[in-house]
Amino acid sequence: MSEQRPRVLLSVASSLDGYIDDTARRRLILSNQQDLDRVDEVRASVDAILVGASTIRADDPRLLVRSAELRRRRVAAGSPASPARVTVTRTGEVDPAAQFFTEGDTARLVYTDDGAVAAVRSRLGAVATVIGAGDPLDVHRLLADLAGRGIGTLMVEGGGAMHTLFLTAGVVDELHLVYAPFFVGDAEAPRFVHPGTFPQDAAHRMTLAEARPIGDVVLLRYLVEGPPVEDAL
Ligand SMILES: NC(=O)c1ccc[n+]([C@@H]2O[C@H](COP(=O)([O-])OP(=O)(O)OC[C@H]3O[C@@H](n4cnc5c(N)ncnc54)[C@H](OP(=O)(O)O)[C@@H]3O)[C@@H](O)[C@H]2O)c1
Repeated sequence: MSEQRPRVLLSVASSLDGYIDDTARRRLILSNQQDLDRVDEVRASVDAILVGASTIRADDPRLLVRSAELRRRRVAAGSPASPARVTVTRTGEVDPAAQFFTEGDTARLVYTDDGAVAAVRSRLGAVATVIGAGDPLDVHRLLADLAGRGIGTLMVEGGGAMHTLFLTAGVVDELHLVYAPFFVGDAEAPRFVHPGTFPQDAAHRMTLAEARPIGDVVLLRYLVEGPPVEDAL
């Protein structure tokens, strides 16, 4: 029997040379307003959004659906105004006052190693549900747990460690890759993915479903296999 898991959409904005940030303290803007509106529509179409703990520390993202109309449509369909928020941490060293935990009225789920649950719960248990997903954490167990909580579609929004974890585990169904028209050129900057063994290699190419210019950026939409998450995009 095939494993029970949500459909997984991985979304990233990258420089032309494959960096998803630079090393400055302020957040690097890769997207443009038109593309942010597109991302908002994708967010509004999923049940949960996942980012790694380092992204919460670096960017303090809210991960809310910004458009009032899209929020209204979700609520009319019986969903929370914004998708559930999911993160992954070993150390639990994430600020409970981060917007990930404090903004909006939606579920917050923190996955960690079984052996770290007690420590992570003591730090984040008041603001999130802390769940062990194996020792070490097994992404298949994480996804099975999400499916058990009614999550049918998961959007993975980075950073590089999360993209690498999900891609190398072979659990990504669709990739949305936005290229910004500039270079970062700093070997210390975070990359889209880290080195690893990827099922999608030169012998196992993905299917290009769409290449769309959006202002000065371009969206490449790849299907790993099967139908797209959201045909209407
Ligand atoms: N351009 C974009 O689309 C985009 C999107 C998102 C983020 N970013 C950028 O990406 C950068 C962060 O990326 P990143 O690769 O450093 O970090 P990340 O993927 O956001 O998070 C990495 C963290 O996740 C936890 N983790 C990773 N693997 C784990 C495992 N197997 N088990 C348990 N926990 C695990 C660890 O947290 P602990 O250390 O807490 O244990 C680790 O430090 C930032 O600069 C951010 O701005 C860019």
